[in-house]
Amino acid sequence: MCNDAPHGEDLVNPAETGPMPAAADDWWRTAVIYQIYPRSFADSNGDGIGDLPGITSHLHELATLGVDAIWLSPFYPSPQRDAGYDVSDYRDVDPLFGTLADADALIARAHELGLRVIADIVPNHSSSEHAWFKEALVAPPGSPARDRYFFRDGKGPDGSEPPNNWTSIFVGPAWTREIRADGTPGQWYLHLFDTTQPDFNWESEEVRSEFDDILRFWLARGIDGFRVDVAHGLIKEEGLPDYTVDRTVDPDGRHTFATTPFMGRDGVHDVWRRWRRVVEEVGADRMLAAEAWVFPLERMAHWVRPDEMHQAFNFPFLETKWEVAAQREIIGESIRAFSAVGAPSTWVLSNHDVVRHASRLALMGENPYGYGLGPKSPGQPDAVLGLRRARAASLMMLALPGSSYVYQGEELGLPEHVHIPDSKRQDPAWFRSGGERYGRDGCRVPLPWKSTAPAYGFSDTGKSWLPQPAEWGTLARDVQAADSTSTLAMYQTALAERAERRLGSGTLRWVDMGDDVLAFDNGTVRVITNMGDEPLPLPGNVIAASESVGATIPKDVTVWVERTVPTA
Ligand code: GLC
Ligand code: CA
Repeated sequence: MCNDAPHGEDLVNPAETGPMPAAADDWWRTAVIYQIYPRSFADSNGDGIGDLPGITSHLHELATLGVDAIWLSPFYPSPQRDAGYDVSDYRDVDPLFGTLADADALIARAHELGLRVIADIVPNHSSSEHAWFKEALVAPPGSPARDRYFFRDGKGPDGSEPPNNWTSIFVGPAWTREIRADGTPGQWYLHLFDTTQPDFNWESEEVRSEFDDILRFWLARGIDGFRVDVAHGLIKEEGLPDYTVDRTVDPDGRHTFATTPFMGRDGVHDVWRRWRRVVEEVGADRMLAAEAWVFPLERMAHWVRPDEMHQAFNFPFLETKWEVAAQREIIGESIRAFSAVGAPSTWVLSNHDVVRHASRLALMGENPYGYGLGPKSPGQPDAVLGLRRARAASLMMLALPGSSYVYQGEELGLPEHVHIPDSKRQDPAWFRSGGERYGRDGCRVPLPWKSTAPAYGFSDTGKSWLPQPAEWGTLARDVQAADSTSTLAMYQTALAERAERRLGSGTLRWVDMGDDVLAFDNGTVRVITNMGDEPLPLPGNVIAASESVGATIPKDVTVWVERTVPTA
């Protein structure tokens, strides 16, 4: 039976003294933030690409689900070479997604429903179609227009070798040589991602002040915060020295971009201090969330020191194996590392860059970051096991103190779409790797809303920019909304109970139920995840469960049970 003795200390969400509501300004400390990938959420005009009016028309469903905020992946004008993470104008909306008026309407509707709106901002690089980059291409070497990016002469007698040996995160060299108007090759420019995504030079004061203004532009339109793309990039080591990455994954298969000359540089913190001041000009309730792939967690926590950003995505949690000891360790480390700087921990299991957790948690083969999943990937996941574990993992995550991210479709238990035909794939990583990496299309497939409608209700015409798998009919939102045992119903119950019981601002205390069981208390809830073969006797009244349980909790199931809290 249970041994109530905690393993060590209580793990307290910082700046909270108990189960108290977070102050209004601090909403982000406990928020559940729902990530919308605009091109795949809902299509209002039938062109097969999701858009802002499509989002606005479905916001009430997210309010009903019980999330506190939405984060929108980029909707700015863009040639869409990296699905909008290649921005050509930071102060407008791509006609593909709508207009500025549509963005205003979306923000207004969200606020009316009590949802905050976080915009994605991409400061590391622009699109090669950005006016500044076009200006740079026609400007001479050494000109101020070129100094907003990284233009360098090539090596070798005729400058035909790249200025250094850096490689792109999307595979291949991180440099591309320009072809001048007269057809001759010129200088090289740096791009840590696709050739169409030139890196900005953040030593340039002009770049810095331009971004201050971009933030102000969106804050004035009512945006509540920003998810900052590649927040570990921006600053490059002086002199751009050669660097060879020996491993992009650690021995556990976890993604690593420790400190390199192009990532995780300390100089980046000045930028975040500056951004903090800019968002605070508007109000203490506006927030910044870092996409910072830096490890270990103690270093990641530098991104969320009190005068920098508010949150950083907890990728180490996302990448942790489905094992009791590993989960316990990462959860404890996360709360400790972020608490040490006064920030809440965040929790995330899926996003638009990784294999959906309903597939990932049942993968039998190696799957390094960015490889994605396709028909030829080793160790294909078992769909039933994957969904079972995904539900257990999500229910466990939603009971953790701090702020949680939910990626669109995970509330439906959507798996990765493994069988996208090669001819339909669109991720630049797929093309740049010559098909060696499937990339991220499999987690970006348009959502199923209605089981019997064309494109499962994603668009009236049945068009969908990526094909949807046939099995998704049974996972559609309308089917799940009518089924009290569905994944959707589980999320809705969990989010309502989480809010009611103020779990986001609670304190975590481990409960020892043996090596095969992850168990902890948070306020009035005891959370138990059984990862062992032995079914566990159910120790109390069930508040929420990842599968319907009888007298015992089976393997790969999480339950929240009522806990009697001793009165002080
Ligand atoms: C981030 C985004 C990813 C994008 C990359 C380049 O990692 O999440 O989707 O491809 O940055 O902007
Ligand atoms: Ca559309």
